[in-house]
Amino acid sequence: MIVHYLTGVERIDQEHIQLVRTLNEHFARSNPDMNLSTVFTMLADFNAYALTHFATEAQETHTAGLENSVLWQMHQGEHEYYQKRMQEFQGQAQGDCPGTAEHLRTFMHYWWLNHLCDADQKLGRAIMAMRHP
Ligand SMILES: [Fe+2]
Ligand SMILES: [Fe+2]
Repeated sequence: MIVHYLTGVERIDQEHIQLVRTLNEHFARSNPDMNLSTVFTMLADFNAYALTHFATEAQETHTAGLENSVLWQMHQGEHEYYQKRMQEFQGQAQGDCPGTAEHLRTFMHYWWLNHLCDADQKLGRAIMAMRHP
């Protein structure tokens, strides 16, 4: 997964580099034949780091004075949606229906691609605009 994910906000960019690196490693190591609980276990560290990263973005947004903006409300909604979907996948891992691991892989790919290239870009631009009006 090669994406243009730099925002200009140093802390966020450092974490995005780490997230993309880990996600690429995950895609290289996992395959469609693995069951969901195996894939989910492989993602545990990544998802823990993702939560830390969402907190970093909240902190940077707060520091920039944008915590009450519509942009942030919508952004936070995307982070919450991601966490909700992960909980749903985790629930499905018990029954382990065939094909669910592939759904998880597809979801991870598109959610992160879209979020890094769209929502995070908009947030980064807004934070930078507050720093250098
Ligand atoms: Fe991000
Ligand atoms: Fe984000």
